[in-house]
Amino acid sequence: MTQKSSAAGGRRNSAVLITGAGGEVGHGLIRALHDSGRRDIVALDIRKLDREIRSLCMETFVGDICDAALLGRLLATFEITEMFHLAALLSTRAEFTPETAHDVNVGGTLSLLQLAAEQSRSHGRRVRFILPSSIAAYGIADLETKAAAGKVLEDDHLMPTTMYGCNKLYVEHLGRYYASHYRQLAQDRIDNILEFRGVRFPGLISADTVPSGGTSDFAPEMIHAAAQDEPYACFVRPDTRIPFMTMPDAIQALLQLANAPEDALSRHVYNLQSFNPSAGELAKIVQGAFPNAEITFEPDLQRQAIVDSWPADVDDSAARRDWGFAPEHDLDTAFSEYLVPRIRARYTEA
Ligand code: SER
Repeated sequence: MTQKSSAAGGRRNSAVLITGAGGEVGHGLIRALHDSGRRDIVALDIRKLDREIRSLCMETFVGDICDAALLGRLLATFEITEMFHLAALLSTRAEFTPETAHDVNVGGTLSLLQLAAEQSRSHGRRVRFILPSSIAAYGIADLETKAAAGKVLEDDHLMPTTMYGCNKLYVEHLGRYYASHYRQLAQDRIDNILEFRGVRFPGLISADTVPSGGTSDFAPEMIHAAAQDEPYACFVRPDTRIPFMTMPDAIQALLQLANAPEDALSRHVYNLQSFNPSAGELAKIVQGAFPNAEITFEPDLQRQAIVDSWPADVDDSAARRDWGFAPEHDLDTAFSEYLVPRIRARYTEA
């Protein structure tokens, strides 16, 4: 634990807690929260955070979200008003160790929801719990159904085939349960003890980081390989289509949802997406931007089956209507204004 500031005279400092702070989303979110003036960021990750991220936080912890003693310390030390629970094992990694994924993705989330409920009870203000869920919550039976499904709504095709997808779909329900029904038969229950808000992210593409352990990783891997003049063998077929968005738009969406007035929200979990090129269309754009790019297609049948079970497009109209979701980047500007200049600079500097 770093000790940059501690609770004075037994009073607990108010804090926003970010789990999985060292991941791709965590990096961007912590920078954005700090830029917006937040000085109450408490970050938790299984690995030590890099120096730059540590310098933006009030305190940082290295540890496991499944560690009850650690969560107890957080409860005792801070008045947590908001949580962004980002820690998770993604869809590809989770298939190698499904039970561990369940422990982290479900067990860890349950512990944090309980921590949020206890925090709300102890300081009398409802903790706002923000969860990135995923397109992996969907499961479409076959390619014919996928083609016919069009823009999939939040409540359709929820038959995930991955442990990660099952975990995310279930923790969406857990969040709704804690927000609306927690301890519904207990005499001393507190109504609506916490606020729960979630988004189903599509594949995310960052100029600054490359993901690990996901199945939508073919897009960011292709782009980063091209920028480094490295050949890339894409693990899905060229006709594979799922939605994506850029990392800055994903961070912005999390902040917008977190700050939305409660009475504007008509649901607990919202679809998001910005653009949905096929892997083949993406390869052409990448080759246009990086003419030396060498991209081949060598589908991995198992990972292909996972991506085939995810929608080609999702209906994000609820997010647009309720809290003004409006991603800045479409496919063209994602490349021309964000990815290409930043990735070029990144690998030229390196
Ligand atoms: N990017 C995630 C994954 O591939 C999907 O949300 O697992």
